[in-house]
Amino acid sequence: MFFSKKKSSITDFSFLAADMHNHILPGIDDGAPDSATSLVLLAELSALGFTKVIPTPHTYQGIYPNTPSTIAASYDQLKKALDSTAGIFPIVDHYGSEYMMDGHFTSIRSKNELLSFGKDRVLVEMSFADNAPMLMDEIFQIQLQGKIPVLAHPERYTYLFGQMGYFEQLIRMGCELQLNLLSLLEHYGKGTQKTALQLLDKQWYSWAGTDTHHIGHIQLLKQLTQSKNFQKIVDYPFLNKGL
Ligand SMILES: [Fe+2]
Repeated sequence: MFFSKKKSSITDFSFLAADMHNHILPGIDDGAPDSATSLVLLAELSALGFTKVIPTPHTYQGIYPNTPSTIAASYDQLKKALDSTAGIFPIVDHYGSEYMMDGHFTSIRSKNELLSFGKDRVLVEMSFADNAPMLMDEIFQIQLQGKIPVLAHPERYTYLFGQMGYFEQLIRMGCELQLNLLSLLEHYGKGTQKTALQLLDKQWYSWAGTDTHHIGHIQLLKQLTQSKNFQKIVDYPFLNKGL
């Protein structure tokens, strides 16, 4: 008798539909340096199955000192390039930002100037060196403004490895967690991969993002579709599709 193992027919990211974390806006952070590169990245994301892309450039005082107006100018530049170029691209109809959780964030938030992705989500990150002591208070303050905080790539903070109680507390406080898809490979290291699998297992992620900065990330996303961990996310209840 002949037995064959049924292989999943899902081989791209169309199950997510939208990417809500990436650096494809031209010239304002460590992502795409110009519009031509943005278009290449967008075409590649489309080929990977994404039908919508929401750019989230860094806002990080002293390193990527973006403001709503620098981000708007870069977005306008990209929209012009999209309008004048034939090709298949995902929908790009708004943008957010990835905010470094620091004193500058507090000042932007207190002026009510936070950019959100989707209707009301605010993407925040912490330093890779150390925990942000104000995170819990900011999670509370963001929600007072009627918005929902989303912590980017919780699995990438080495000082949080094994701290499942901390992640649970974040979720209880009303903070959502976002998986970096490439964490499922060993791209950011084995500890990150292990933490990502633990958080997935507990179903503590709400969102998944590519965090695309350059073409190297696109190559890795293609590799991910062929990896065994890919099958762990194809049926996961991420919220991306509702964007
Ligand atoms: Fe990012």
